[in-house]
Amino acid sequence: MSTDQTEVVPRRTTPPEVSPPPSCPAHGSYAEVAKEGLPRLYGPVAEADPEGIYNHLREQYGSVAPVALNGDVPAWLVLGYREAMDVARTPTRFTRDARLWTDLLQGLLPSDSPLIPMVGWRPDAVSQDGPEHRRLRSALNDSINRFDRLGMRRFIRHYSEQLIDGFAGDGQADLAAQYAGYLPMMVMTRMVGLSEEYGPRLVQASSDMVSGTERALTANQFVGDTLTELVRERHHAPGYDLASWLIEHEAALNDDEVMNHLRLVMIAANETTTTLIANTLRMVLTDPRFRASLTGGLMTVPDAVEQVLWDEPPLQVCPARFATEDTELADRRIRAGDILLLGLAAGNTDPYIRPDPAKPMEGNRAHLAFSRGPHECPGQDIGRAITEIAVDTLLARLPDIRLAVPEEELSYTSSTWARHLDALPVRYAPTENQPRRPISSAAATAAAVSEALASSEEAVAAAAPAPVPPPAHSRMRAFWQRLKAWW
Ligand code: HEM
Repeated sequence: MSTDQTEVVPRRTTPPEVSPPPSCPAHGSYAEVAKEGLPRLYGPVAEADPEGIYNHLREQYGSVAPVALNGDVPAWLVLGYREAMDVARTPTRFTRDARLWTDLLQGLLPSDSPLIPMVGWRPDAVSQDGPEHRRLRSALNDSINRFDRLGMRRFIRHYSEQLIDGFAGDGQADLAAQYAGYLPMMVMTRMVGLSEEYGPRLVQASSDMVSGTERALTANQFVGDTLTELVRERHHAPGYDLASWLIEHEAALNDDEVMNHLRLVMIAANETTTTLIANTLRMVLTDPRFRASLTGGLMTVPDAVEQVLWDEPPLQVCPARFATEDTELADRRIRAGDILLLGLAAGNTDPYIRPDPAKPMEGNRAHLAFSRGPHECPGQDIGRAITEIAVDTLLARLPDIRLAVPEEELSYTSSTWARHLDALPVRYAPTENQPRRPISSAAATAAAVSEALASSEEAVAAAAPAPVPPPAHSRMRAFWQRLKAWW
């Protein structure tokens, strides 16, 4: 990222590794374009420099490039801003429904392919289009929008303060692991209707779920069991939470659907928001445009968040769309059943809309970070609110905070889909905490959550320090105890 407004950022063009030329006739359309083999969108070369690969692909192929995914599975990567909008907005031509995917139908994907959790069919809104998507999405939208926004902002601040308490006295911290990595799941845990002590466990579970190891299965089971029990409980004792609102929504979701959508919301929100917080913190700690704003008002925190959403969208490549018919896109022949990925990071730097990538976007929200069309992220305001409050609260509590290492020493881990900061080490003058309970010992009930989310700052304060009795239903209490012992 540029650290100087006047500096011209050279566009990197790392040549990708290529897969051997495919011989399978099912891969004809992709392979016809990439006769030398498909450029790999995975593996050490692609993961070392995703931006370089996108630029190289754009130079070689234009707005729509043939690529190889994990296991050398062929796909189209949509690099153009207008083309990505087109694909995302026309589900009749490009659906989310993976059951149309030719490679899957022809059994060309091994059942343990790491692509399946990312792009395979799932029983939730993500994999549907048309009337069924509208039914599920209306329940999601209406339920997410029922939260009182002011109450929620206070609640997010409350959690931010609690996390900062955990390291404020130390004079040093890793903001990626100790702050950005926890805050979104703490907020989401309480939003779905679980008590806050589950936040840290769900952070671990959601990271295990994408680990590709056998822990993924156990974590998946844990999340599923926890949410299934929550749904059962909320039938008898509704609260101010997503579980209760999804149950009572006129779209008439059955219990499995409610559980799957609670899981979807938690997973969709967690890693994306964690990445956005970490990248925004890195920017405000290093970018002179932001530093200047503290004295001269050049860039506000919301501006910094939008700038990061342009430059480093948390989901760099969005899975996946499937062509419903033979069609064309940017002069490429796309066959029915072909898989397309939305290059959100690449679209955001498409020279057609951003000829000078170093020019600040000044709060412009036309980026692709939340995608577009019927699947556009329904939680974007919440993701923004969590990030802005995380940054504001940290700067207010630790005003002299600074990076503990030179910016060039920060390292990232990338995949086909996303790029994460490994650590964000900082230093500051140690400060004394206000008296507050550590998060792990908190035992607030759903009623306290409801109060805190719904109403005033006093309600948050009241919910925070006082130990609150565990859930009233003994069945639920026994279940929590079992889970705690198991974890
Ligand atoms: C700032 C962080 C976030 C980013 C960058 C982000 C980005 C995205 C993107 C790119 C999609 C895919 C859209 C598509 O397939 O075209 C998506 C979908 C989704 N997001 Fe987010 N998201 C964020 C935070 C959240 C939060 C906080 C929530 C919940 C409160 C949430 C809930 C969802 C859901 C439920 C979907 C699936 C929607 C559907 O398929 O209809 N996201 N998000």
